[in-house]
Amino acid sequence: MTLAPTYSGKVRDVYDVGGGLLLMVASDRISAFDRVFAETVPDKGRVLTAMTEFWTEELSDVAPTHLVTTDPAGMPSVASEIPDHEGRAMLVRRAEMLPIECIVRGYLTGSAWKEYRSSGTMHGSRLPEGLEESSRLPDPVFTPSTKAVEGHDVNISFEEASDLVGESLAERARELSLAAYERGASRALSRGIVIADTKFELGMVDGELTVCDEILTPDSSRFWPADRWAPGSTPPSFDKQPVRDWAESTGWDKESDPPPIPAEVVRATRSRYVAAYEMLSGRSFADWWGVDRQVGPSGGSGS
Ligand SMILES: Nc1ncnc2c1ncn2[C@@H]1O[C@H](COP(=O)(O)OP(=O)(O)O)[C@@H](O)[C@H]1O
Ligand SMILES: [Mg+2]
Repeated sequence: MTLAPTYSGKVRDVYDVGGGLLLMVASDRISAFDRVFAETVPDKGRVLTAMTEFWTEELSDVAPTHLVTTDPAGMPSVASEIPDHEGRAMLVRRAEMLPIECIVRGYLTGSAWKEYRSSGTMHGSRLPEGLEESSRLPDPVFTPSTKAVEGHDVNISFEEASDLVGESLAERARELSLAAYERGASRALSRGIVIADTKFELGMVDGELTVCDEILTPDSSRFWPADRWAPGSTPPSFDKQPVRDWAESTGWDKESDPPPIPAEVVRATRSRYVAAYEMLSGRSFADWWGVDRQVGPSGGSGS
């Protein structure tokens, strides 16, 4: 018998294991240009899980998180029915999720740069004049968006977020998100990585506002190599640049089904994810649950 997930997202399978707990299992699926590719990046799910655990510890005096454990020995017995769960699975406290995405931006890029360029604003609020693409913002800003079930999330103002969740909760969400981003971004910068922006998913656990889902990972954030950042252009993506460069080189129209990602691009991408974790945390990925020690940080386990 195979256990059916209660919910399957783009990247995670979520199992309700009772007692107010969920088992969230991160896959190796990769997306770029808003597409999920058929190929997977070996160990990517483990890197995302390892990073989320690292940040849970790092943020412990700033923000409570939903994480209970990543230790395979601490998983409920149903985990044994999920193949290859070691190091990908997190046992978390089930939250009532806020219906907004809690985005924090420290640098002007992506949809925020587009809006600024055309109207001088970011999520409807005026910014100083003369900022360039990728400029560091005077201060990080909480820029929420809607959580679209279908299609794209829509950037909204703080007032619109207040209409959705209530003013006092919106204020607490802003405060918590800014504190978590500021701690994470300064830690990352000291390790050579710019976290340009990030998306937190917050929820209520036992009446307490809690950081849920993945935390400050390359999938929920823009990671840039600090030595490649210069205002006026977009720095390479720390993690997905091999896939992006390869995709651009194929002439793929980004509408039709993508061509298969070549093995060397998959390997390069895996190394970037592992490198990001090791740089940020100062830990060795080979020590993480379920990692095949023979592969090593820059190898690939193939398929
Ligand atoms: N502690 C939690 N309690 C309830 N739901 C959660 C919790 N943490 C994350 N989630 C939800 O679980 C899902 C994770 O699956 P994922 O593949 O990341 O989804 P998506 O495709 O929406 O990004 C998301 O819908 C997220 O909002
Ligand atoms: Mg997600």
